[in-house]
Amino acid sequence: MIKKIRKAVFPVGGLGTRFLPATKAMPKEMLPVVDKPLIQYAVEEAREAGIEHFIFVTGHGKTAIEDHFDANPNLEKLLMNDGKWQLLEFLRNSTLESGKISYTRQSEPKGLGHAVWCARDLIGDEPFAVLLPDDIFHCKTACLKQLVDAYNEVGGNVVAINDVPLEQTNRYGVLSVEKDDGRLIKANGMVEKPDPSAAPSTCAISGRYVLSPEVLKELDNQKAGVKGEIQLTDAMAATLDRVPFHGVRFEGRRFDCGNKIGFLMANIEYALDRDDLKDEFKASLQEFIKTL
Ligand code: UTP
Repeated sequence: MIKKIRKAVFPVGGLGTRFLPATKAMPKEMLPVVDKPLIQYAVEEAREAGIEHFIFVTGHGKTAIEDHFDANPNLEKLLMNDGKWQLLEFLRNSTLESGKISYTRQSEPKGLGHAVWCARDLIGDEPFAVLLPDDIFHCKTACLKQLVDAYNEVGGNVVAINDVPLEQTNRYGVLSVEKDDGRLIKANGMVEKPDPSAAPSTCAISGRYVLSPEVLKELDNQKAGVKGEIQLTDAMAATLDRVPFHGVRFEGRRFDCGNKIGFLMANIEYALDRDDLKDEFKASLQEFIKTL
């Protein structure tokens, strides 16, 4: 029987060193794309996919994330008094309902697999989603919703897939492909950050997952992989003998906001998609490009 995906895990325990000095005292996940923090894009996507409970795996220096999703009655009162109704709506949209949000702590950043494992008691024995907030997906249908729809057809583990240039396979988990219908890929293996010469394909796993609780059992082994980190890819691979594994070539565009070029491109894309900004921004961009 296919169980509903009710819970999502947001691993936000990483150090974000590629964005220093911005991330010296501020979590990377609070960096804004246009005017909304990365983490809020991920939370809104999860909501669109029907997620009911939001689990954050945080670490040292991440309390701004908790404050961001909490109510701010003083600011609400101020905006109400000034009749700033749209800003009030933005503020309220960024508040998550008490009891529907949980925080746990990753005391040491030992890798993505370890971060997910830290949420094991909050997840329990049910399938769940994982969203890496530094990947944002600009899609008509939320990327996680596309994964959940595929999961409702095939069950098991389902991940988002990006076709990447061969020379970039050493940045991603990469699938070994058994069957590929253009949208859905059935995998019979996967390897974390393979050298291009050893990569089984160019189907790279991006930051959205629907996972069986079997993956948590594998993570119990706490086995370190590439770079000495506990890798989620290794735990998913270890369940291949008993859990079906599929990748979805999602429709839409992914921005890796953990690196600077991806982050800058995301700002351009999202600004050009905003009714209140696009005309003026596009004109400014065009003028600017002429000066290059
Ligand atoms: P990254 O691989 O981008 O690592 O993590 P990072 O530490 O955040 O950033 P850099 O490389 O130092 O700049 C991808 C996602 O996994 C989370 C991060 O918070 C980010 O959302 N993560 C990573 C953890 O929660 N714990 C970890 O131990 C590692």
